[in-house]
Amino acid sequence: MTNHLAIIVDGNGRWAKEKGLKRSEGHKEGAKRLEEIILYLSDNSLVKYLSLYVFSTENFARPKEEVDYLMKLFMVWFKKVKNVYLDKNIKVLFSGDRTLLSPKIQKSIAELEDNTKNNTGLVVNFCLSYGSRREIVEASKKIIKDNIKLSDITEDLFSHYLYQDLPDIDFLIRTSGEMRLSNFMLWQSSYAELYFPKTYFPDFTIDELKKALEEYKLRDRRFGKVK
Ligand code: FPP
Repeated sequence: MTNHLAIIVDGNGRWAKEKGLKRSEGHKEGAKRLEEIILYLSDNSLVKYLSLYVFSTENFARPKEEVDYLMKLFMVWFKKVKNVYLDKNIKVLFSGDRTLLSPKIQKSIAELEDNTKNNTGLVVNFCLSYGSRREIVEASKKIIKDNIKLSDITEDLFSHYLYQDLPDIDFLIRTSGEMRLSNFMLWQSSYAELYFPKTYFPDFTIDELKKALEEYKLRDRRFGKVK
């Protein structure tokens, strides 16, 4: 079992463009793949934590029409999944700068987190309005505010001050062939195995996911040590 899997969702726009469709169609199709992936991982108990990069702080600079579309898609989705996740014992967390989101979205996020907080199955961490450097700076500020003694500041303590207290990422997938992290969970992915399939996210089916997880099994993880 992979403990913490992360996916940088990428290629929705290019998928749509190649088909002569609007970018929003790519996001809509991507949302379907995302739902399939979450339910597949949950139903088969394949991972304990799943982090998903669905909207970065930089993404706010996209055309207003696209940002509005995505925010609406998130809202509808968060309402829709509540009962399914309760039924499937899935717990939802959010990582990101919530203050940049509209009050309506903030409310739906808080509700979904609260409704699923006692669930003990798959933990889905949505990175939304997320930037890793910002997260690290915010954590540093909180540590200073809490008057933590210098000698008490350890890597472990620092982790507790991030948006969510999650274990390290084991396996990180970025779809669409781009080979970079783009400010995604830099602290948490220090020892992650990286995987960059060429597939655009709307084509990233369960079969593609299975292939990725097979690849992970073949990786030789040494964490800097000699085996
Ligand atoms: C990256 O593709 C995708 C996004 C910025 C949005 C991700 C959103 C979804 C999959 C929608 C559903 C999510 C939820 C939680 C309901 P891109 O637009 O950067 O593609 P491009 O690089 O080809 O332009």
